[in-house]
Amino acid sequence: MASKILVYGATGGIGEASARALAAAGLGVHVVGRRADAVAALADEIGASSTVVDLDQEGAFRLASEEAAAQGSGAIAGVVFAVGTINIKPVGRLTRADFERDFLVNSIWAVEAVQAALPFMVKHEGGASVVLFSTVAVAQGFTGHASIGMAKGAVEGLTRSLAAELAPKVRVNCIAPSLTRTPLAAKLLGNPQMADAIAAMHAMPRLGEPEDMAPLVTLLAGPQSGWITGQVMAVDGGRSTLRTKG
Ligand SMILES: NC(=O)c1ccc[n+]([C@@H]2O[C@H](COP(=O)([O-])OP(=O)(O)OC[C@H]3O[C@@H](n4cnc5c(N)ncnc54)[C@H](OP(=O)(O)O)[C@@H]3O)[C@@H](O)[C@H]2O)c1
Repeated sequence: MASKILVYGATGGIGEASARALAAAGLGVHVVGRRADAVAALADEIGASSTVVDLDQEGAFRLASEEAAAQGSGAIAGVVFAVGTINIKPVGRLTRADFERDFLVNSIWAVEAVQAALPFMVKHEGGASVVLFSTVAVAQGFTGHASIGMAKGAVEGLTRSLAAELAPKVRVNCIAPSLTRTPLAAKLLGNPQMADAIAAMHAMPRLGEPEDMAPLVTLLAGPQSGWITGQVMAVDGGRSTLRTKG
């Protein structure tokens, strides 16, 4: 039985597009989400195995990893951790609870997902792969982004630390998107004028779509990227590096 790639956040924008792309590329997929109906429908459609669990629940990562390994002869081929927050507030209004929640969901859960899968990833013949998510707001400073910038900055540090520590058995890479049309960004994009204004700030003048991320997730999670590790790659329409006006 082929080992599976565990996809956390598989009922979200980027997670779902990634799970679909991985399955379409012929890779084994194990989807994880907290909404039973949505998880079952996706798993059914793409031929994936699944775990339904709320990640706030004690033992959630262990459960998902054990179930994914059981579907793949005791090994796990990789982890895609597509769970996160967008909590944008002026620094004076951010509370310790905001910082702690953002750090927990984005950074600590990412490392816990890797820790839980590690005993099974090291058994995967040919090496396993981890794909984490940062944000454009680490490479480029934006107002209101203190908490998420801190939490995702930690993910970039984690990416390089784990890539060194787990080589050569497990590769670890990270994708840093700019604003992408997903449920997570819905509140920000609720105002069409603001959405258009943000889109226009990109050298490629539009917002991201989940399908912009999925091909890179597939490359990084799959065996074709066997010599890529410890990298943070922007999928951001040029937002972190290019200025086309002024
Ligand atoms: N969208 C952007 O503009 C953007 C920009 C930069 C970085 N990113 C990063 O990209 C990654 C994917 O984001 P996205 O935009 O695809 O987000 P999304 O659409 O909100 O998807 C996030 C997923 O995480 C799941 N999730 C959240 N809390 C959970 C919990 N307690 N237990 C189980 N599952 C939980 C959600 O479940 P439900 O489906 O049940 O809600 C959802 O499936 C994140 O790391 C995010 O920070 C996104």
